[in-house]
Amino acid sequence: MIVTELKCRGFRNLQDITMAPCEEVNIIYGENAQGKTNLAEAIWLFGGMKSFRGAKDQELICHGKEFAKLELKFRNSLRENMAQITVSNKRNAVLNGVKLPGAPALIGKFSVVVFAPSFLSIIENGPSERRRFIDTAVCQLRPAMAAPVAEYARVLRQRNSLLKDVMMNSALLDLLDVLDEKLCRAGETIIKARKDYLAALAPAAEEIYTGLSSGRERIGFRYCSKFEEGAMAQALKTARREDIMNKTTSVGPHRDDIEITLNDTSVRAFGSQGQKRSCAVALKLTEAEILKNATGEQPVILLDDVMSELDVSRQDFILNHIKNRQVFITCCEPGTVLRSAGGKTFEIKNGNIFN
Ligand SMILES: Nc1ncnc2c1ncn2[C@@H]1O[C@H](COP(=O)(O)OP(=O)(O)OP(=O)(O)O)[C@@H](O)[C@H]1O
Ligand SMILES: [Mg+2]
Repeated sequence: MIVTELKCRGFRNLQDITMAPCEEVNIIYGENAQGKTNLAEAIWLFGGMKSFRGAKDQELICHGKEFAKLELKFRNSLRENMAQITVSNKRNAVLNGVKLPGAPALIGKFSVVVFAPSFLSIIENGPSERRRFIDTAVCQLRPAMAAPVAEYARVLRQRNSLLKDVMMNSALLDLLDVLDEKLCRAGETIIKARKDYLAALAPAAEEIYTGLSSGRERIGFRYCSKFEEGAMAQALKTARREDIMNKTTSVGPHRDDIEITLNDTSVRAFGSQGQKRSCAVALKLTEAEILKNATGEQPVILLDDVMSELDVSRQDFILNHIKNRQVFITCCEPGTVLRSAGGKTFEIKNGNIFN
């Protein structure tokens, strides 16, 4: 997957810009608050997912403007493509002249992986971030999984609201049975897909992490759930009385976690800053690898502000590892990165781009 041209109009602080990146390493540098992350975000949106900053659509539009328009020319193994995204009160997308039902329909068309500093929270924070990571990765890999993920969230909301009423009205217990069945069906599908993903992730991540740490540490993953796969129905039944009392659903994939370990020790609990950072980067590079193996298309890699936080040997490993694919690296000080990377450099100043 190669981006050949990006155009932005009315997007965040970016001026009306056109950018023609090279096929390998593109360095985007500039002082703070000039628009580097905004540019990475613009490319990211063509993957069809929500902003990696968790921004609402409205926040993407330049203050004082009515709408934002993005245009991306990219090449995959089959053809040249042109995609457009318009953000107004909603997000619309057009691919090769055909209007799509919505921006999420771009998922699987343009494949992209982003590392942003906030991704560190996947290591440091509670389980919800890890669940979101794995569900996003699963959906990107298997777009059909978006349906059970959405269904699960919907039924879970219904069940939780039903739990509030069931104490007063036991006639609702029948409905609870129905919801439990639906919840289990979607839930077990999600758990299976997550475990399949972890099974694919582990060996690839291990290889990358070994390189990143020069063979000093071994990364591992463990899926943590209160019940065995296939036993969610029983677990829900066992927890029902407690769930009714607490008015919330205590078992299911929305409560599961993925433990990440280095040399069999939890990184979250015991890892150093550098180890946490390295794990997060390794996870992202692995995600790219898995996408490539599954789709045959090498995803575009966006590394927002990552190099400055790593020591030279880890920086070098990343730059060597990402050869033969297109990458966008944002940084304030291009010095070290430039020296080893070559490629094309762009300076961003006040939303304008120069090269
Ligand atoms: N919708 C918007 N309209 C206008 N300006 C915006 C909008 N959203 C964000 N900005 C501004 O864009 C500027 C650049 O943001 P961005 O995050 O891209 O900076 P950056 O170059 O990545 O900086 P840093 O090096 O600090 O990460 C910020 O000053 C921000 O206030
Ligand atoms: Mg930034």
